[in-house]
Amino acid sequence: MSINSATPVLAEEGAVPVRTATKRTVLMCKPQFFTVVYRINPWMDPALPTDTSLAVTQWQTLYDTYVGLGFDVQLIDPIDGLPDMVYAANGGFVIDNQAYGAKFTHVQRQPEGPAYMDWFGANDFNVRVPVETNEGEGDFLLVGDVILAGTGFRSDSNSHAELSAIAGRPVITLRLINPSFYHLDTAVAVLDDSNIAYLPSAFDEPSLATLQERYPDAVIVTEEDAAILGLNSYSDGYNVVIAARAKDFERQLRARGYNPIGVDLSELLLGGGGVKCCTLELRR
Ligand code: ARG
Repeated sequence: MSINSATPVLAEEGAVPVRTATKRTVLMCKPQFFTVVYRINPWMDPALPTDTSLAVTQWQTLYDTYVGLGFDVQLIDPIDGLPDMVYAANGGFVIDNQAYGAKFTHVQRQPEGPAYMDWFGANDFNVRVPVETNEGEGDFLLVGDVILAGTGFRSDSNSHAELSAIAGRPVITLRLINPSFYHLDTAVAVLDDSNIAYLPSAFDEPSLATLQERYPDAVIVTEEDAAILGLNSYSDGYNVVIAARAKDFERQLRARGYNPIGVDLSELLLGGGGVKCCTLELRR
């Protein structure tokens, strides 16, 4: 290619796109009973102390950030003895008023499934009781009209077909291979209806090929940012709430016209979760 023909292309690439925010409705659960007393992912170490009041303070910052962005934030009551209930993303997957319930892999979290389904029912969602093991939005991410679905550690791949039938949307199966990135929302961030950010090393080869083909302009995050669950973020199409320490991710988002907003959820990282884990999107 000659220099002359290359120049305008580069100029075009340099233009920062204008992004549009869409108001979200989300469900959250205050970490009133948060602690780490069992180990179901590599981040959790029951021997390390946790500070429940600090977890609540940090979580409150996330809540306030969402309210400040104009989101409608709904709350489910925390239950004593269910320390992971703060990770509301795992409570189900909600689309077109259909609430596909969660069926947890680990016995410690299994009572959360019915607790979230009760909330959905009481709030006029059409509850769809799951047959297959799945951990809700932890492993299911809506990007435009398709649902990206994780498997390998938690959600059974049979749940992908079950959700596809309920949601009437194509579901793309992606296999996770690194136990530190055990839910899809630790390895993929949805930025808007057509683009994502992800960590390539978290996926097996066929899944990585699928991501590369579908999202050629995706943001590729560094191992460093992923290692503090930087991908575990939540976007309204313009504002992207991310881990405050994910500095390179922040830089890449800004360069692409998004507005990254850092929050510190270090205490909830002790349970293996971040921003997105604490957030379940409700789509009426
Ligand atoms: N301790 C929880 C678990 O291992 C953390 C869940 C994080 N949630 C998420 N959506 N990634 O199940």
